[in-house]
Amino acid sequence: MRATTAVIPAAGLGTRFLPATKAVPKELLPIVDTPGLQLIVDECVGAGFEHVVVVTSRAKPAIEQYFAPRLDLVAALRAAGRDEVAERVARIGHDARISFAYQDETKGLGHAVGCARAAVGDQPFAVLLPDELLADSSLLAQMADLSATTGGSVVGLKRVPRDELHRYGVIDPAGPITADGVVPVRTMVEKPRNEDAPSDLILIGRYLLTPDVFDCIDRVQPGAGGEIQLTDALCMQAAAGPFHGVLSDVGRHDTGNPLGWLQAVLDRALDDPALGGPLRAWLAARG
Ligand code: UTP
Repeated sequence: MRATTAVIPAAGLGTRFLPATKAVPKELLPIVDTPGLQLIVDECVGAGFEHVVVVTSRAKPAIEQYFAPRLDLVAALRAAGRDEVAERVARIGHDARISFAYQDETKGLGHAVGCARAAVGDQPFAVLLPDELLADSSLLAQMADLSATTGGSVVGLKRVPRDELHRYGVIDPAGPITADGVVPVRTMVEKPRNEDAPSDLILIGRYLLTPDVFDCIDRVQPGAGGEIQLTDALCMQAAAGPFHGVLSDVGRHDTGNPLGWLQAVLDRALDDPALGGPLRAWLAARG
């Protein structure tokens, strides 16, 4: 069965963007004019997903507000003849069914995914970290197809230079990579020392998981700061059954830190037909 539900964990504190994230959730920071979270929903829809579960916290009411209808705003825009933006606003939350799960204590990514259990049910599902912006839906679609074929979990991968490996989750491959970029995974290690890393293939925040992962999450021992790591649950899955990675070279931005977020904004603005020219001219003049 191909997965139709996707989970977006968005309950974190976003401390790297304080003080902005005191009131505005990190996941709603704009990439030019569109919240990063919307771009992630678009990626889900593009890969054929029908239901998106956003894991949020009651301290971040703006996330639910973003998906709620604003009939007054849509009517005002239409009355002003601004039909295109009216359509965009009216469509928010309608390309897929959006539902919410709550994580009111930030006990880590594994715990956040566990909070979506009732909303997901007993079926395979995707997890997308909203800090990772990918240029298109192709990786997620390939992962969903592969998981439907193998019956096991699948993780999205990227190759990075060896001196950066200590910042990421790194896989230990159990065999060679196919021409389609598919690789069997033996296990994973979080933030290894560069010299100890079992490969140069890192997890990039895209997961296609079979529902037994929820029982694995329940069995994970909390680590530093009481956090339940998703990677620990994935290691249990990889030890028990088929588990694959898909290597992708799709364009990617890490918007979880201010520099990465700025790069994502500039990239999108430079590609924008209206903004690209004036922005390039301004950057050149500024030196
Ligand atoms: P991050 O660790 O990048 O987000 O988690 P953060 O903790 O909010 O950010 P900093 O490090 O304090 O700046 C990746 C994603 O997982 C979610 C976050 O909202 C983010 O989208 N997350 C993380 C949760 O939903 N719950 C958690 O307990 C931790």
